[in-house]
Amino acid sequence: MKFFVALLGVLAMAISADAGASMHNPFFCYATDTVRSMTNMGSVITSYEAIRRFNFTTVNPYMSTCTPSRFWYLGRYGSRLPHAPTLQSMIDFAESSIQDDIVRNYEAGRTTLCRQDFEMIRDFTLESDFGGIFRIENAGLLTESGIFALQNISRRYQEVFPEIFPQTYERSRFHFRHTGTPRTNVSIQAFATGLFGEVGAEGIVHEPIPEQDWFLRPFDFCPDFWEETADWDRQTRAFETGPEMLELIEQVNRKLGFNSQNELNFTQILTMWNWCRFKIAATFEASNSETGAHCPWCAPFSVAHHLLLEYYEDLSFFYASGYGVRNQRMLENLSCGLIQDLLNQMQSDNDGDTLARIFVSYSEEIQGMLVALGAFRDLWPIHQHNFAQQSGRHWLTSLISPFSANLAAVRYDCEDGDVDLRFFLNERPILVPGCDQQTGACKLSTIVDRFQRFISADCSTFFCSTN
Ligand SMILES: *[C@@H]1O[C@H](CO)[C@@H](O)[C@H](O)[C@H]1NC(C)=O
Ligand SMILES: *[C@@H]1O[C@H](CO)[C@@H](O)[C@H](O)[C@H]1NC(C)=O
Ligand SMILES: *[C@@H]1O[C@H](CO)[C@@H](O)[C@H](O)[C@H]1NC(C)=O
Ligand SMILES: *[C@@H]1O[C@H](CO)[C@@H](O)[C@H](O)[C@H]1NC(C)=O
Ligand SMILES: *[C@@H]1O[C@H](CO)[C@@H](O)[C@H](O)[C@H]1NC(C)=O
Repeated sequence: MKFFVALLGVLAMAISADAGASMHNPFFCYATDTVRSMTNMGSVITSYEAIRRFNFTTVNPYMSTCTPSRFWYLGRYGSRLPHAPTLQSMIDFAESSIQDDIVRNYEAGRTTLCRQDFEMIRDFTLESDFGGIFRIENAGLLTESGIFALQNISRRYQEVFPEIFPQTYERSRFHFRHTGTPRTNVSIQAFATGLFGEVGAEGIVHEPIPEQDWFLRPFDFCPDFWEETADWDRQTRAFETGPEMLELIEQVNRKLGFNSQNELNFTQILTMWNWCRFKIAATFEASNSETGAHCPWCAPFSVAHHLLLEYYEDLSFFYASGYGVRNQRMLENLSCGLIQDLLNQMQSDNDGDTLARIFVSYSEEIQGMLVALGAFRDLWPIHQHNFAQQSGRHWLTSLISPFSANLAAVRYDCEDGDVDLRFFLNERPILVPGCDQQTGACKLSTIVDRFQRFISADCSTFFCSTN
């Protein structure tokens, strides 16, 4: 009972501390807001540098008296343009009459837009936005900001772990592998450029990519798993038509001066939000600004709206590749190949083995690995009805899987003969159950015991087996 009362106290505090941001302000003016907190609320469409400033844990990143000796990295590709269907819907939106309708609404005094936001919307053109690269043939391609982010990630790791990352490439020390898409190819090349420079990176060897890449993209090759994610559709649909989202739709329409006869629907509102988050993420690193470039389509949304849309995305990933997947074992099994690779490398005492293994893949794979490790787990699951109670949740996709997100494991050899592992997410040490909760250090033996079942498994069948 006492426990429960204490818990309620914490909840109440969390809610009141957030009341400012979670209250909708109909007069929010994006153009004059210098904080632009939506910059880090785009879920998986968030810039890496925009979130790197946040501390997930209180652990001091690199404090250890032991010697780092091996490095394993699972990264997501850097910021990209939208895929073709989304990009096309954004172009259609930009070419529709909505922009002119808003201008008319403003002039008739029907909106609550500030003058600066109105002018930004009025002056928006498809050509001026994204500097002309926003074309269907560029769908899904990496942006310059994505390349910058990856180059800087590897440079920083090289600075912190000079023992592991020499300035020149040696085939025997490194293993580079990506998937069959241009965005992971360009990303891993940017990572290598950060380490060895343009010329050095041209000479690196990429591991061959198999046709059935169950190792690096297991979610794509396991139809049995998709059947386990029925809750995904149920939860996201329910949230889409639930009271919070209906209120958001109503408020956005009111802000832009639409009434019940001509109101924008959820799909159209989501398209505006996509403009907002893709534009910021695509330009952030290259813009040399703390908030990225402007996007007029951020203006219809208050901070409370961004928080709600972010939650909508969090729910979706939670039930597709997170703790909301009913069959957690099966989700863990999907990471069989990656976990086995990690353990093989970390357990090796052979000086001839690779020092750094670098993989570039997708957000689902990183989320799946976090679930296997037990990191970022909340006391209570997030679901369609508890948005207000979950403002302090760990499962925040903007922080855990933005563009260029990366999960790294580092082996440390200690003088007393102990071997430790530390896990880093986006360059911050993370707390893994079973490991030291102050320093973040895990005994290698603890991790090996925990994942014993993967060590000699035939992952090519184990990764998607149900018996
Ligand atoms: C994040 O953590 C580091 C190391 O513990 C600390 O130096 C820094 O001040 C923290 N930053 C913030 C914004 O709390
Ligand atoms: C990334 O690295 C470049 C140098 O290549 C530097 O100029 C830039 O400031 C860095 N950007 C960030 C966001 O760290
Ligand atoms: C990466 O992309 C480049 C340029 O398209 C291509 O030449 C190269 O073969 C690709 N590498 C791999 C390993 O897919
Ligand atoms: C939303 O409105 C657009 C434009 O009128 C329409 O094409 C689309 O089908 C609507 N979507 C839904 C889900 O009603
Ligand atoms: C995980 O894989 C193992 C080995 O094939 C299998 O015994 C187990 O049933 C799988 N777990 C689930 C939930 O599918």
